[in-house]
Parts: sequence; structure tokens; C-alpha cells
Amino acid sequence: MLVPSLHLALSLPSGSINLLRHHTRPAHDAIEALPCMQRLMAPDYSISEYGVLLQRLLGYLEPLESLLTTAPKAQFQLGCSRSECLRADLSEIGLKVMPNAQRASFSTLNFADESVRAGICYVFEGSSLGGQVIRRTLLRNLGAPVANAVNYFDCYHGNHGKVWRKTLNQIEQTPGLDPSKMVDAAAEIFGSLRVWLNVDGDSTHHGSPVSGSMQSQSRCPFARFSNWIGL
Ligand code: HEM
Repeated sequence: MLVPSLHLALSLPSGSINLLRHHTRPAHDAIEALPCMQRLMAPDYSISEYGVLLQRLLGYLEPLESLLTTAPKAQFQLGCSRSECLRADLSEIGLKVMPNAQRASFSTLNFADESVRAGICYVFEGSSLGGQVIRRTLLRNLGAPVANAVNYFDCYHGNHGKVWRKTLNQIEQTPGLDPSKMVDAAAEIFGSLRVWLNVDGDSTHHGSPVSGSMQSQSRCPFARFSNWIGL
């Protein structure tokens, strides 16, 4: 259980969004504090580090989105395909995606449950807010080479506020959602993404791979990075 005091807190009168914010804030802070996220904002950030991060995000988001879209009539869907944005960004910076690259699995989440889906959408639609800060920082620090390679962080091209408000309204107004399941799902996504991105601890910015199995193929970070991006 990622949120120890959740059931106590859920008995207090509060909107679902406040609950989501309150219970996932530490998880957000933990993900923001990851070395690979801190590096994203660093003045000496490099394109190769950015490529590794985009690959890692793709390995997580592609299977997640595929599970979300297996229920096309479900109410909660992401407003755009983040994995398509990631693929476009990778292509723009000249990196190939390996067809056998490791993908995350989400066996503990029930994608047929709208409360679970709402928690997932909260996390990823919300991430487009911080994405604006990240996009501006990347453009400032990396400049022209990423001018057309920030689609993931700027997935709504200036409409993130509108999409975010729509998501919040949908979460607050959809009848029958279970706040406890929603918060658990959001916390699980934050937690599993943090682990996924931090697979090599604070060496992530040296180009290490996304998966444990790839990690076992070689202890040489460059060899594993090269394998991952198909160099
Ligand atoms: C360097 C990494 C990150 C930074 C600097 C960052 C920054 C921010 C900022 C500044 C906001 C508030 C924006 C506003 O109120 O207008 C925010 C909100 C949010 N971010 Fe992040 N973020 C980062 C990573 C992430 C990641 C990886 C996720 C999840 C995939 C995420 C999910 C969220 C969510 C769900 C919210 C909305 C919280 C709410 O108001 O309910 N963030 N982020």
C-alpha cells in the first residue's frame, strides 16, 4: 500500500481531486527528485541523455496506452497518444526504437475499472502541466536540435490548461467513481514510473538502459545504451 493513511483520509469530506493531490504529492516530489528528472532541467543536459529518457518513457507509456485503449468505449482515456509523441521526438533527434526493447507491465491494475482509469488519467494529464516548465527549459538549454522534439512534454500544444480542466471536471462529475481505488491507482502509477525511470539509480544520466533484463546483458553503460537505441 503506497498511501498508508488513505482510508482514514477518505472518510473526511473532500473532493476527489483534493484527495488525489494530497495523497500523491509525496510521490510527485519523489519522481521530480529522480536524478534523470533533475538532469532534465540542468543547464548542461545533453541530447543523448534526453534520448535515453524518451526511450524509457516510451517503454512505460506504450504498453500503458495500449491497455487503456483496449476499452475504446471507456470514459477515461488520455487526450492524446503520448507514445506517438515520444516516437516523433525520438525520430526528430535521430534515434531508432529497438523492436525488442523491454516494456513495462501493469498486471496489478484493472484497466476495466473506471476509477483506476481516472487515477491513471489524473497522473498523465497532470504531467502536461509540469511538461510546460520542462519544455521551456529544454528549449532554453538544448536549443535548435530539440525545437521540434518536445512533443511529449508539450503534447497539447498550448491547450494543456483546457485539457486539464476537462479532466478535473470529469473526475469530479463522473458518478460512481471510488476515490480509494482512484488514489491507489494514481499512487501506483507514480510509484511504478519512479522505479522504472530509476532502474540504475543515480547513474541514469550516463545512458544506462530501461530494463532489468537489459541491465543484466552488460555492465557497461555505453554498451547497454547503444543496444537500447540501436546504435
Ligand atoms: C522534472 C520533473 C517534473 C517537474 C519539474 C514537474 C513540475 C510540475 C509542476 C510545476 C506542476 C504544477 C503545475 C501547475 O500547477 O500549473 C506539476 C503538476 C503535476 N505533475 Fe509534475 N513535474 C515533473 C514530473 C512529473 C511526472 C513524471 C509526472 C507523472 C507522470 C507528473 C505529474 C503531475 C501531476 C499529476 C500534476 C498535477 C497535480 C495537481 O495539481 O493536481 N509530474 N508538475
